[in-house]
Amino acid sequence: MATTPENLRDQVVTAFGATPDPRMRELLTTLAKHLHDFAIETNLTVEEWLGGIEFLTAVGKMSDEKRQECVLLSDVFGLSALVDFLNGPQDQDATENALLGPFYVSDAPLMENGDSIVQQHEGEPVRLEGRVTGKGGEPLPGAQIEIWQIAANGQYDGQDPDMVENNMRGRFRTDDEGRYWLVTNRPFGYSVPTDGPVGRLLDVLGRDPMRAAHIHLRVSADGYQPLVTQMYDADCDYLETDVVFGVRESLITPLEDDGDGGFIARFNVRLAPAG
Ligand SMILES: [Fe+2]
Repeated sequence: MATTPENLRDQVVTAFGATPDPRMRELLTTLAKHLHDFAIETNLTVEEWLGGIEFLTAVGKMSDEKRQECVLLSDVFGLSALVDFLNGPQDQDATENALLGPFYVSDAPLMENGDSIVQQHEGEPVRLEGRVTGKGGEPLPGAQIEIWQIAANGQYDGQDPDMVENNMRGRFRTDDEGRYWLVTNRPFGYSVPTDGPVGRLLDVLGRDPMRAAHIHLRVSADGYQPLVTQMYDADCDYLETDVVFGVRESLITPLEDDGDGGFIARFNVRLAPAG
């Protein structure tokens, strides 16, 4: 039988189909099929294939525990957002999830409602408040809110060796009525790193490297699925063009002027019941 691109693809898919683990077999055969179809459909040249190999090599060389260029590549392709979406709460009434990002830490200091997470680098003050409820609207007392965001100097505490530990980071518990309230800075859009191969890709695409202004939250309560999400500032220029495709409409929150040089943001969270 003469080899054609299609029967070469089918041979590879069949060979990969010998993988004993069923899930691994599904992943690898589907990946091989789509990879071959991509090359067939675009009539990929040797130069282009080599260019792709060189690009992936550069991405790998720039990836370690501090600089995650591989994750960034997944992010700008929207793959991280897609996987997050596919694995989010299936419950229509629950608050939507959003990307965890690379700067979560699980042991942020426990603070009192009303405390400020701003230890260093003051920005525009925001009182963030809301209620944590179950899907029926029942308040969840003692729910845990973990919050983290970029500091006014444009760095997360994990990025800046000169920053006070746990700056712009805290852990809160809801009161008897499921309420939480705290003080932070108004978030702002920031650029993902552009000095590596993914930055060159964004250049080729003509894409803005900016993330929409956001505050990260992780909310958990006994008997409910933990939620990782982001609150997006409604008055941000990058909501439509967020470089990692992370914005969900239901998470966009208006910041109201408090008449005293600051802002108030209300962000309620509805958790889906555990499994
Ligand atoms: Fe972030």
